[in-house]
Amino acid sequence: MIYLLSVISFAGLTVALAAMLMVAERLLINYGICKLDINAGEKPLELDGGQTLLASLYANELFIPSACGGKGSCGHCKITITSGGGPVLPTETPYLTRKEIRSNVRLACQVKIREDIYVRIPSDLLNVRMYSATVESSVDLTYDIKEIVFRLDDPAEISQRPGQYVQVQAPSPDGPVFRAYSISSPAYEENIVQLCVRLVPGGIGSTYLHTIKPGDTVSFTGPYGEFWLNEDPAVEIVCVGGGAGMAPMRNIIYTLYDRWPDRVCWLFFGCRTTRDIFYLKEFEELAKKRPNFHVVYALSDELAEDEEWNGETGFIHLSVDKCLEAGVRRQAFLCGPPLMIEAVTRVLEEKGISNEDIFYDEF
Ligand SMILES: Cc1cc2nc3c(=O)[nH]c(=O)nc-3n(C[C@H](O)[C@H](O)[C@H](O)COP(=O)(O)OP(=O)(O)OC[C@H]3O[C@@H](n4cnc5c(N)ncnc54)[C@H](O)[C@@H]3O)c2cc1C
Ligand code: FES
Repeated sequence: MIYLLSVISFAGLTVALAAMLMVAERLLINYGICKLDINAGEKPLELDGGQTLLASLYANELFIPSACGGKGSCGHCKITITSGGGPVLPTETPYLTRKEIRSNVRLACQVKIREDIYVRIPSDLLNVRMYSATVESSVDLTYDIKEIVFRLDDPAEISQRPGQYVQVQAPSPDGPVFRAYSISSPAYEENIVQLCVRLVPGGIGSTYLHTIKPGDTVSFTGPYGEFWLNEDPAVEIVCVGGGAGMAPMRNIIYTLYDRWPDRVCWLFFGCRTTRDIFYLKEFEELAKKRPNFHVVYALSDELAEDEEWNGETGFIHLSVDKCLEAGVRRQAFLCGPPLMIEAVTRVLEEKGISNEDIFYDEF
């Protein structure tokens, strides 16, 4: 009991001290104007010290990915700081590999600007914009997934690579937050952004997106993401998704067949029951027009009511294993829960696909 009380008092004292230090720093220390140099002179800025790097970049319309609103709990805001970032903080280490720490990668939301600071930002991220748009439609795809279409107002067009995502701004009691959603509309549809959003019970972003109505206005930043489609038409494309992980797959498939009508592409989609199936008819229609497009949906938890299902059953990695022969040049895109990604990656590597040709987003 005494031990427990001492631990609680010590923890309370530490939190109180940390809070006092933060308040004292804010009130007493003036860091003055600091220089922020991006990519060795590409975009030099001068700003008030004392803010986090992430907040300062946002204030200058440089939108680094951030899914937790700067709370240090998503690990998305990685940026390379070549000088002036101070030591790596304990709040950053859970999200950084040893290699990243050696390469000066930091979490922008945890680094405060206290002196001149030199950073490297990939040119793709310098092109990220803030968009305002109007909700054009919102329809149910399943009991928990909605397809939502935004018509872009300003800017009126978006240039995106298939597999990229946007960060939608959602209201919350603590101020606006951003959440990542993959773009399901193909790259050639430049005036809209379509999403597939699964409702997470009690979730801020997904609840917001499930309640918005046609005519409402929304804001988002983007596009973000590291997916690169191999331009060599001889390379087969493999898309594997589960749940809302369908969104980037739809984008990749339609963009692919717009450019290469004869390209070989496999879509594997994992569902628990027939209640989770969507877009199947749409893809079967596409497969009739594009004979090199193969569609495989599989149910992992078939119910009695699914008795008319005559497609694949079992976890989706088993279907991938069954359908793909080894030794073919392929590039793969995976989106879904971490366990699915892990199992599918193992199968694809056994089939001879190298790690650099496997792109994934976990959610
Ligand atoms: C690159 C990327 C692309 C994404 N694309 C999509 C997409 O196309 N469609 C889509 O629906 N989502 C997508 N997501 C997930 C999305 O960004 C949000 O994380 C998700 O909608 C939950 O946010 P929220 O604000 O509703 O929940 P939060 O308010 O963040 O969380 C509420 C509670 O739910 C828990 N929680 C959070 N996420 C999940 C989850 N997935 N399952 C179960 N519990 C959860 C949290 O731990 C918390 O306790 C993507 C994520 C990433 C990183
Ligand atoms: S914004 Fe989430 S960890 Fe930095």
